[in-house]
Amino acid sequence: MKHSVCIVGGCGHIGLPLGIALSTAGARVTLLDNTESRVRSVAEGRMPFLERGADESLTEVLADGRLTVTMDPDAVGRSDTVVVTIGTPVDEFLSPEVRTFDRAMESILGRMHDGQLLILRSTVFPGVTSRLDKRTRERGLRIDVAHCPERIAQGYALEETGSLPQIIGGVTPSAARRASALFALLGAKQIEIPPVEAELCKLFCNSYRYINFAIANQFYVIAEKFGADFDRVRKAMTTDYPRMAGFPGAGFAGGPCLLKDTMQLAAFNHNDFVLGQAAMMINEGLPTFLVESAKASYDLSTATVAILGMAFKGNSDDPRDSLAYKLRKVLTFESRKVLCTDPYIEDPSFVSLETALEEADVLFLGACHDEYRGLTPRQPTIDVFNFLKRTSTEGAEPRTANAA
Ligand SMILES: NC(=O)c1ccc[n+]([C@@H]2O[C@H](COP(=O)([O-])OP(=O)(O)OC[C@H]3O[C@@H](n4cnc5c(N)ncnc54)[C@H](O)[C@@H]3O)[C@@H](O)[C@H]2O)c1
Repeated sequence: MKHSVCIVGGCGHIGLPLGIALSTAGARVTLLDNTESRVRSVAEGRMPFLERGADESLTEVLADGRLTVTMDPDAVGRSDTVVVTIGTPVDEFLSPEVRTFDRAMESILGRMHDGQLLILRSTVFPGVTSRLDKRTRERGLRIDVAHCPERIAQGYALEETGSLPQIIGGVTPSAARRASALFALLGAKQIEIPPVEAELCKLFCNSYRYINFAIANQFYVIAEKFGADFDRVRKAMTTDYPRMAGFPGAGFAGGPCLLKDTMQLAAFNHNDFVLGQAAMMINEGLPTFLVESAKASYDLSTATVAILGMAFKGNSDDPRDSLAYKLRKVLTFESRKVLCTDPYIEDPSFVSLETALEEADVLFLGACHDEYRGLTPRQPTIDVFNFLKRTSTEGAEPRTANAA
């Protein structure tokens, strides 16, 4: 059977790679998005953000008409399946920002008709899928509803989509069967669980990773306070010692997912999530710790400092919730002048790497971009990731930056 799919939020970091993957696998896909610049860019065959391998595939699927893009909200009524991939942020109080999502869902449900399948792929608060199913029935709408969370690492979606097991959380057996048939196109193993468990599965994954990064960051802070080299300790801990396999390095745990999903889980558990909340304090406190430590050795108040890398993780062009920006805020207060540079982010206030290296008295590494591999700056450099030293002494460095 030929699948026809409308992806709401289809020009986003999750919707667009999924749309490309599904259309490459044979589905007819319409990307529906309300950000005009992104829709225009996709329609012209240009990826609005960095996603490995996506540029060529996008051109191909657009050319043969398997993928189309629109801003017309009525598109949701013209496909068998509607997949929702819009953002589900937390607000300034770190509570789930449900109103925008609810409004979007109202608009979507108002345009759906009996017999369609609705898949929530956005990361949602536990219970949202069942609540949505109830809302559809109250409206007299007979559709199947499922939650199938996305678990790819941003920027590597096309590599991972076909290999990561797909969690299928159908409200009914029919919803599960239909969602499973759609994702079977991508060829990955599937795991069926109830929707609330699918919702928890995603939040547990991200909270677990966030807490693990916080453990490494807390150990880093302890090691620094006692004048020990955290990375040397870490190497000693993990070398040929399988029980420590996977222990991450220290670094910024930023990005649009890990913190907000940990906070969603905290909110779901009535703010009783001590581990998650402690992880937030540790990870979010790291930029300030780095600046305070640097102040003990250098007079930042008279110094020009530069941050190399502003994206939330290495080789990414995404500045969302990047702790490099928090670092900039603290440094702006503490130093004479702050320069920022990033090869992937266009920002007229940024300077080139050359200028940063030329003008700065002190450097901070903000993101482990390949462009900085093996760099041996002349000035003191605060590198919580130990990326520069590692890549100048060991060369190859796998992709392990602390981020989603
Ligand atoms: N980015 C990741 O690495 C990642 C990984 C797994 C899961 N997720 C989850 O996926 C969801 C989307 O995240 P993202 O990073 O792709 O966000 P994003 O902001 O990149 O994409 C969301 C897209 O939805 C569009 N949009 C918003 N409201 C809309 C509406 N009412 N109608 C049509 N389009 C609308 C926006 O214009 C945007 O293009 C979130 O729930 C996130 O937690 C993200």
